[in-house]
Amino acid sequence: VSLIKIGLLGFGTVNSGVYEGITDTLSYLEQLLGDSVSVEKILIRDKQKYSNNSNDELLTDVADDFFKHEYHVVFEAMGGEQPALDYVTFLLTKRIPVITANKELIAKHGSKLESLAKKYETFIGFEATVAGGIPIINTLKSQLQWTSVEKVSGILNGTTNYIITSLQEGNRTFESVLREAQELGFAEADPTSDVEGYDALYKLQILCRLCFGSWPTPEQFQRTGMSHLKSWHFKAGDYFQLKLKYIAEAYYDGHEVKGSISPTFVEEKHPLSSIINENNGIFLQGDWLGNFVASGPGAGKKPTATSMIEDYLHQLQNKTFKQTPIKRKVVNHVDTKEYLVL
Ligand code: NDP
Ligand code: HSE
Repeated sequence: VSLIKIGLLGFGTVNSGVYEGITDTLSYLEQLLGDSVSVEKILIRDKQKYSNNSNDELLTDVADDFFKHEYHVVFEAMGGEQPALDYVTFLLTKRIPVITANKELIAKHGSKLESLAKKYETFIGFEATVAGGIPIINTLKSQLQWTSVEKVSGILNGTTNYIITSLQEGNRTFESVLREAQELGFAEADPTSDVEGYDALYKLQILCRLCFGSWPTPEQFQRTGMSHLKSWHFKAGDYFQLKLKYIAEAYYDGHEVKGSISPTFVEEKHPLSSIINENNGIFLQGDWLGNFVASGPGAGKKPTATSMIEDYLHQLQNKTFKQTPIKRKVVNHVDTKEYLVL
């Protein structure tokens, strides 16, 4: 290939960031890739919304128009299960690599999409589906392949961490902070997914696939929404010097992987207690690994676009077309009762 043709599915917070990231750094990106790069077409839902956009000739709201073009990679950031599943399936069967930020798609259909990518000797990258700008997925795939992970926990949703941080500081209402998180581009199109824990559940399912080797079902986890949180929880936290966080955790209990997503009290000395605003944190524990913590921006345009572009470069350099070879030995030596889950 001497010209890498790129397609974008969606042009909201994430993919407008991918577009700007590509165009703002074009010559450096081309140097890294050793080829020219061009964004060929962008599919959106409603072109009228974009009447003042300078990329008019690239934008289309007609799927057939998008799919008649040739691509060497497509970045999917439309969100939701359908039509994303049909589009990504179609692309993989045409051997076109896909980089996605869509955690619902991967949590629900990751197994099928990984197999399709392997069958058609292409790849699906999903680094951006978990914890925005923190490169945890490719770290688990490439740099932590051998060591066993006995427990994974984390703050996996930027919107709810942003809300909890603001409520802890006082003087704000849940609704006004949620509105602010929406305006900042952190929240899902339907923020119920953030505040009721579905978004964190999808991310936890994806992490479990990498930490424990197989795709879990949602029934393996107990999910408690943020609506469970009452003002006295904050007061009690202050009194006992505990921090409230929205924690997702999973471990192998000797029989199966199980876990929870819930407002949770953590000790102030715990590595996740100091993670504030829209930042996320991931805490891996293992006998040989010890305690591994990664933290950073969990949502937002630039960090997530960084993840998408880096994921593409990573996939290109590692394209072995294998299904992720992770089938870890799962045992448990770690404390599975470290959190006070509400
Ligand atoms: P937005 O709502 O900002 O953007 C979605 C884009 O997809 C819009 O351009 C929309 O078109 C387009 N779209 C949606 N449905 C269709 C459809 N049926 N056909 C064609 N185009 C469609 O979402 P985000 O960018 O925030 O999120 C996208 C994905 O990335 C989601 O899966 C989200 O979970 C994930 N993600 C988001 C992060 C963030 O910080 N926002 C971080 C990490 C992952 P139109 O503009 O016409 O409505
Ligand atoms: N809505 C998600 C969040 C976006 O707030 O974490 C990042 O996945």
